[in-house]
Amino acid sequence: MTNIVILTGAGISAESGLGTFRDEGGLWAQHRIEDVATPEGFARNPDLVLAFYNARRAQAAEASPNAAHYALAELEEKLDGNLLIVTQNVDSLHEKAGSKAVLHMHGRLNGALCGACDHRWDAPITMDKSDACPSCGAPTTRPDIVWFGEIPYHMDQIADALSQADVFVSIGTSGEVYPAANFVAEADHFGAHTIELNLEPSAGASRFAECRFGPASEIVPAWVAEELAQ
Ligand code: APR
Repeated sequence: MTNIVILTGAGISAESGLGTFRDEGGLWAQHRIEDVATPEGFARNPDLVLAFYNARRAQAAEASPNAAHYALAELEEKLDGNLLIVTQNVDSLHEKAGSKAVLHMHGRLNGALCGACDHRWDAPITMDKSDACPSCGAPTTRPDIVWFGEIPYHMDQIADALSQADVFVSIGTSGEVYPAANFVAEADHFGAHTIELNLEPSAGASRFAECRFGPASEIVPAWVAEELAQ
């Protein structure tokens, strides 16, 4: 029985056509974080923020999983043990590929959240600031996305899983955003073997016991095949 925890970031979805944040020409080169990914930005200009996520939701709806997403779903199905995917991604490509145990620590594009009563429901493809909450009726709906300055979801469950992990793998993330960037240290502290799979060394590459560099669609299936052969 092996316990594997996998952290994924925007790099795993790059070859599915979804842009990353910090690569050249990435989302944060085109938009200011303060404007589109903070509660203050939403309070100042909800139309701008909703337009940003409406466009991303429409793009994600058209995207298909790539070989990396499928390899992780296969690993979950065939592994003699437990596999948990903790994703920073707000797309649904892990689920589309067939993965079952997936925690979205930064929320989901397909989710809507009421700013007044915390009710959650499925977001329509196009959200509008006049949309009323189906539970309390207030016109205070927002994307169910964890913005900068907000607390990521599922942190207790993630801490539990990291404390029991035999293997921790970080895939396609720059290691620039906390608390996810610290998961490698937590897993290492509890004795996990730590692996980075990324296009290039991330900010925290030196904290991993093992690193492999290349496109996710190649290096993830190769690692999964080795893991299943053991
Ligand atoms: N295969 C593997 N890795 C790739 C690929 C690819 N084809 N393309 C890019 N990468 C790598 C980049 O080298 C980079 O290290 O993916 C990483 C993407 O980093 P970021 O753009 O910073 O994305 P991520 O780490 O997911 O960002 C974390 O920041 O703004 C927030 O909430 C947002 O969840 C996001 C968080």
